[in-house]
Amino acid sequence: MEAIKSAISVCRKCPLYSTRHNVVPGEGNIHTNIMFVGEGPGQEEDKQGRPFVGPAGQLLDKMLAAINLDRTKVYIANIVKCRPPQNRVPEEEEAQLCLPYLRKQFAVIKPQIVVCLGSTAARYIIDCNIRITRDRGTWYDKMGCSFIATYHPSALLRDPEKKKDAWEDMKSIRERLDLIAAQSDK
Ligand code: URA
Repeated sequence: MEAIKSAISVCRKCPLYSTRHNVVPGEGNIHTNIMFVGEGPGQEEDKQGRPFVGPAGQLLDKMLAAINLDRTKVYIANIVKCRPPQNRVPEEEEAQLCLPYLRKQFAVIKPQIVVCLGSTAARYIIDCNIRITRDRGTWYDKMGCSFIATYHPSALLRDPEKKKDAWEDMKSIRERLDLIAAQSDK
C-alpha cells in the first residue's frame, strides 16, 4: 500500500495534478474486509490529504458508527485521488487514468464488501448504467466480492429525506458483514 501511495503522490497522469494541494490516496485498515469508495476529494480533503474529512465525512463517520464501524475498521478511498476543481464530477478520462490505483488498492486489501458512495463510484465500480435511486441497496456479487451502492453522504446532506433509504442500506451492509464473520468462524 505504501508503494501505491508513493506512486499516487507524484502522479501527473491527468490534469487534476495541476490544481491539487495534496493527493488523497485513501486511508484506513488494510486488513479490513470492507472498503468504502467515494467520488473524489473535496476542499477539506485536498487541504488535509485525507478522505472524507469535510462535512460529508462527518456524516460518513455517523453512518459507520450506526452499524458499529469506524475508520479503524474500514478502508476509505475515492475514484479519483486529486480534487476536481469546484468539486465537479471527475471527467471520464480522469477517472479511467486514476482507476488503476484503486484496483491496486483492491488487490492489496482484497475486501469481501465494497460500498460505493454515490453514483460516480457505483458507475465506475459496479456498472456504468447504474442509477443510484433505482439500484441502491442491491447487492452485486462478482469476483468473490459483494458490491453495493448507497447514497453519497453529500446527497444525504442536500436531501435528508434520503436518509431512510441509506439507513436500510447500512443495515444490509451490517447483516452481510455478520454473515461473512459467521462463515469464517466455521
Ligand atoms: N466526497 C467524496 O466523494 N470523497 C471524499 O473524500 C470527500 C467528499
